[in-house]
Amino acid sequence: MKSTTDFLKLKENKEPIAMVTAYDYPSACLAEKAGIDMILVGDSLGMVVLGYDSTVYVTLEDMIVHTKAVKRGAADTFIAADMPFMTYHSSFAQTLENAKQLIQIAGANAVKLEGSGEVIDHIYKLTQAGVPVVGHLGLTPQLVGVLGGFKVQGKDAEAARKLIDDAKRVQSAGAFALVLECVPEQVAAIVSEELSIPTIGIGAGAKTDGQVLVYHDLIGYGGHRVPKFVKQYTNVSLPIEEALVQYIADVKTKVFPSKEHTFSIKTEELDTLYG
Ligand code: KIV
Ligand code: NA
Repeated sequence: MKSTTDFLKLKENKEPIAMVTAYDYPSACLAEKAGIDMILVGDSLGMVVLGYDSTVYVTLEDMIVHTKAVKRGAADTFIAADMPFMTYHSSFAQTLENAKQLIQIAGANAVKLEGSGEVIDHIYKLTQAGVPVVGHLGLTPQLVGVLGGFKVQGKDAEAARKLIDDAKRVQSAGAFALVLECVPEQVAAIVSEELSIPTIGIGAGAKTDGQVLVYHDLIGYGGHRVPKFVKQYTNVSLPIEEALVQYIADVKTKVFPSKEHTFSIKTEELDTLYG
């Protein structure tokens, strides 16, 4: 399993970090088998797995259940888990307790927190307590209500300046990596150059130190809308749907189950049964 310093080394060696989300046992098994550098148990699970239209409905309990499943599927891969909506905004004690559950009970190796401002102090408290932290700036989906929608962030000079300053604060607070979501490539490039910790981009162009995509977007699984920045490497929804249609037809026409999928007892046992 990689460590936080291994991710720093990847940046130093200019080797891009490949990261993907996973939410359950099978997705984690496949991500680990494929050789992914880091798994994110993203609160995007609320949208792509649980069917909400936002991540704000995801609870700490949801994150614990899914992180545990991911851990069982990818025991040898570094796992970061999202701290969900409003679980790191009240007291430091509450933030630490919530992170403790994700690490101790669920098995995450790190937690991810969205935003800057007062969140910076929580990142500092966590890293002081020994919890590795990934920051997350740009489009921060938990703030969608405040941001007014899922839109590209840091598009004018002032917003870009704030993003760059915030990124430095996240680094100073002790984060070992920073996700940049939906920001112009030039701005992501500046942040990546100015920080010593690796940046992981999603919709942030080619100049970050790594990339992350949502599992279901990448493999084309499910009925949700896929953002413009996603490259779909396959579309598994099609063969799954075809298989389900075929299964239904087989049941209706009694093609399934055939002998090979059926158990039986010996004829003499049947005779005895009937007396
Ligand atoms: O929840 C998530 O999947 C994320 C990534 C998009 C970075 O936070
Ligand atoms: Na997230």
